[in-house]
Amino acid sequence: MGSSNPTYDLPAAPGTVALDDEAKQIVIIDQTKLPGEIRLLRLSLVEEFYQAIYLLQVRGAPAIGVFAAFAAYLLACSIKADDFDTFYEEFTRQKDYLNSSRPTAVNLSWALSRMDGIVLANRNRPIDDILAALREEALLIRKEDEDACRAIGENALSLLKPGSGLLTHCNAGALATSRYGTATSAMYLGHERGYGFHIYCDETRPLLQGARLTAYELSAAGMDVTLLCDNMAGALMASGRIDAVLVGCDRVAANGDTANKIGTSVVATLARHYGIPFYVCGPMSTIDASLKSGAEIPIEMRKPEEVTNMWYERPMAPEGIKVFNPAFDVTDHSLITAIITEKGIFYPPWSFQP
Ligand code: MRU
Repeated sequence: MGSSNPTYDLPAAPGTVALDDEAKQIVIIDQTKLPGEIRLLRLSLVEEFYQAIYLLQVRGAPAIGVFAAFAAYLLACSIKADDFDTFYEEFTRQKDYLNSSRPTAVNLSWALSRMDGIVLANRNRPIDDILAALREEALLIRKEDEDACRAIGENALSLLKPGSGLLTHCNAGALATSRYGTATSAMYLGHERGYGFHIYCDETRPLLQGARLTAYELSAAGMDVTLLCDNMAGALMASGRIDAVLVGCDRVAANGDTANKIGTSVVATLARHYGIPFYVCGPMSTIDASLKSGAEIPIEMRKPEEVTNMWYERPMAPEGIKVFNPAFDVTDHSLITAIITEKGIFYPPWSFQP
């Protein structure tokens, strides 16, 4: 793995999510092992795909979408059927199972329904043609994601001054997308162009995506990165070192309410208190205009052990203690300065027409 960009030059995986069509496998970096170990996983079974998403071996809303598209293609290839109805029944069963792996990031269901649309649009053609169309669509979804991330970065960079201090939460980086990331895209582009940003990463309890993934990928790319515990963000902002906050998103409702990694709404509230712009970065595919507000966004609840045991040599809480462990929270639209997409920068009042 090269040091300048950890996700671009893997020998077997040219990107965060790669398709090995010959072996009929998806190749990913197991993100649960980072930063200590770079382990590639080669997956081909529906249970493996489900587990990879549920366990966060692949994670981040856009990367989950790309992964799901490749998974739908490979699952379709494995179906033994001579007629369309049998094929479609099995395809739907596997797709619905995969769709139940995580509820919050809309990119999962968005990518699967795009793949479903391709199957239905080609229903009168031979199954081999349907498979070819699915493969093409999955590759297109990945390409579109890469292009969207770059455009998000250009748009975000237009709002930032050289030398700025930038805070981010969780990992909305290259590891969470096909390339560049969303919240980190302007950081990569600014780094290439000599902006000299000072990047601050919240560690992001309980799964530490900020410490394990964002701090890792940005420092490997040569940026000036400082890590902090989540409860230090207020002190950092009070010190005057932060000029802007950039975060990703898992689902944006029609009114601008945004679900993102748990703790994002705390950072947004602090940013408002200290008068710091709070930018949400994400592709248009993360906007779910079918939901009126954030109250309708399904929030994933995860296992208590992630809080009580996971990173400790011995349990750090009384046995059997009740644990509140939502994986995401909703940031109220009133706290968001702008939502930065590949189609442009949206300001309140929100209306997401490109
Ligand atoms: O639980 P995770 O690690 O999948 O959560 C990821 C986030 O919350 C990201 O900020 C979001 O998916 C945007 S990724 C570009």
